[in-house]
Amino acid sequence: MNVATRSLEQIRADFPILQRRVRDNKPLVYLDNAATTQKPQSVIEALTRFYSHYNSNIHRGVHALSEAATEAYETARKKVQTFLNAAHSHEIIFTRGTTESINLVALSFGSRFLEDGDEVLLTQMEHHANIVPWQLLQRFKNIKIKVIPITEEGTLDLNALDTLLTEKTRLLAFTHVSNALGTVNPVKKLIRWAKENGLYVLVDGAQAVPHLPVDVQDLQVDFYVFSGHKIYGPTGIGVLYGKTELLEAMPPYQGGGDMIKRVTFEKTLFNDLPMKFEAGTPNIAGAIGLGAAIDYIQQVGYDFIQQQEQQLLDHATRLLSEIPEIKIIGTAKEKAAVVSFVCEGVHPHDIGTLLDLEGVAVRAGHHCAQPVMDFYGLSATVRASFAFYNTMEEVEYFVQALKKAIRFFKR
Ligand code: ALA
Repeated sequence: MNVATRSLEQIRADFPILQRRVRDNKPLVYLDNAATTQKPQSVIEALTRFYSHYNSNIHRGVHALSEAATEAYETARKKVQTFLNAAHSHEIIFTRGTTESINLVALSFGSRFLEDGDEVLLTQMEHHANIVPWQLLQRFKNIKIKVIPITEEGTLDLNALDTLLTEKTRLLAFTHVSNALGTVNPVKKLIRWAKENGLYVLVDGAQAVPHLPVDVQDLQVDFYVFSGHKIYGPTGIGVLYGKTELLEAMPPYQGGGDMIKRVTFEKTLFNDLPMKFEAGTPNIAGAIGLGAAIDYIQQVGYDFIQQQEQQLLDHATRLLSEIPEIKIIGTAKEKAAVVSFVCEGVHPHDIGTLLDLEGVAVRAGHHCAQPVMDFYGLSATVRASFAFYNTMEEVEYFVQALKKAIRFFKR
């Protein structure tokens, strides 16, 4: 299944929700894919099949259902391993999502590898999920957070790197793709710089994996994290990839069942990877659903995804640039299919509400990236974010609805 053999219409038919109507029977135009993506029938069926045929706990039972559930869960882990080209399946830790993955690294890696006085380098374009966990770590470790600034077009100011670096810098943690601006950061270049300077590196891939292939061995990254629901999988499941030697050296993040080998009241012997970091009953259905989502993406193929999304982005950018009241926020050359904008004289939330009345779903707000908003002196933007199942007609419909909203407020 790829663009040569399946039409966009056939691909859209894989997503039942795209057929529905909203707000006075208007066709749904779903342009909020950076918040969460819609699910293909194969993912929905994987969840239904699990709950209707072999729902059971994993790694514990000796019965048929438990065996089947364990095998499906561990197969999903292998699918993620292949998806990221990780060297070992035990380097794939299932979490609740990107947010939990970063919290895990901040607390576990932070407690073992960071000392008082050490510095962690973030960027001005981070999602709150890659800021607040490091601030929480400051309750236990007197670490310093330093920030790589951004330029007016929304790219990282790489000239600042060497100025920010000191002999205390230990970790660079940055987003691969900005959720608020769409900027694709020069991930290889940044990792190379970090490694030349002896830093550990965490990359937040939540907004990258929906749009581009990632190879963690090629990147030589220490930690790479993403969420299932942003790549057409279920909510409540995510991934932490970590290099074996680091994960081995890090203490558990949570304690409970499955993460132990032997427990007494005096002492507990922890389990091996990956179980050491998966305390309690995990999101078994979610992991299996994520495996199905990865199968789906691989069938569609990143070639098609990138070609389709680039066309959508270019078309939307061109049409929005023709509207005098609109200012696009984030004009980097390398962008994923995300366009943020403000409209002169109209609050982003009002735009969002009027677009919704036309059946167009966008996000309006600070996008959990308030430091980005602060940089531009804004409280919010409107954000349209595209997936490969969106059409050029939808982009045009959205822009017409936007023009109608602007006319309404100018009356
Ligand atoms: N982080 C998600 C977004 O950007 C929720 O909308």
